[in-house]
Amino acid sequence: MTDNKAFPQSILITGAAGNLGQVTARALSDRLRAGQIRHLRLADIRPIPAVEGVEAIQTPISSREVAFDLAEGMDAIIHLSGIPTEGTWEALIPANIAATAHLWDAAVAHGVDRVLFASSNHAVGMYPVDRTVDHSAPPCPDSRYGLTKAFGEQLAALYAAKTPVRGFCMRIGSCFEVVSAKRHLQTFQSHADFIRLIETGLTADYRFEVVYGISDNPGSFWDNANARRLGYAPQDRPADFMAEPVDETDYRFQGGSFADAPLSRD
Ligand SMILES: NC(=O)c1ccc[n+]([C@@H]2O[C@H](COP(=O)([O-])OP(=O)(O)OC[C@H]3O[C@@H](n4cnc5c(N)ncnc54)[C@H](O)[C@@H]3O)[C@@H](O)[C@H]2O)c1
Repeated sequence: MTDNKAFPQSILITGAAGNLGQVTARALSDRLRAGQIRHLRLADIRPIPAVEGVEAIQTPISSREVAFDLAEGMDAIIHLSGIPTEGTWEALIPANIAATAHLWDAAVAHGVDRVLFASSNHAVGMYPVDRTVDHSAPPCPDSRYGLTKAFGEQLAALYAAKTPVRGFCMRIGSCFEVVSAKRHLQTFQSHADFIRLIETGLTADYRFEVVYGISDNPGSFWDNANARRLGYAPQDRPADFMAEPVDETDYRFQGGSFADAPLSRD
């Protein structure tokens, strides 16, 4: 259980209408109701399910003005918004690159203490499956999408070095309700463990860190010792979340189908 005194009191979640955004908003609205945090602000381009006492702002996030408005008065930002799959530069640049850059500038301007960034395993997806990589593995993106996440990680590193804003980059694997593919045995993260990782990012002491968003996955090609060092203690294992049928595809690269797909014409 995390120490409430160390918990940021005002938190912005971007992408709050999405899968992980809703899971995170539920967990933090429980803390709001319990009086453990003071202000929860949710933002998304799509309608956000209403929660009593929670501020919800429906807006595209890609301009400097919007980013500055959203960050005002916040102690922490959990940045989950963006396109979560491969796309054209026309789509990815505003949603994944401009939004992230402007949010970090807004965090500096408004004295936000930390930004938790939903990076992705696809930032390192071109590593082969027989190689174990840890938080120190340089980006090796498997797609334009993965490259936008590598950009976000490097942005976090730059700002952590030159400004007071701490950066916590989560290379999320496969954070779903169930395990539906053989690959997920290595990459799965349960929603409950995702929240444990978020709590680690919100409370641990660091300047810039890269961690993997995985559960307790025996034999994973990602060594997540850095997350554990910071206090992350996953409680779930993929074997307890198996669905039927399971996609049995074996992949050569850690990014799975993203890595195998040819680079489409933009
Ligand atoms: N779920 C996973 O397993 C997984 C794995 C790796 C990385 N991630 C990353 O985690 C984040 C959340 O993933 P998710 O599964 O919840 O995806 P999701 O698509 O369900 O949620 C993303 C949300 O971002 C919003 N959004 C997109 N563009 C926007 C914009 N310009 N302005 C405002 N809102 C915008 C969408 O409306 C959506 O609600 C994403 O950044 C994704 O890349 C997720």
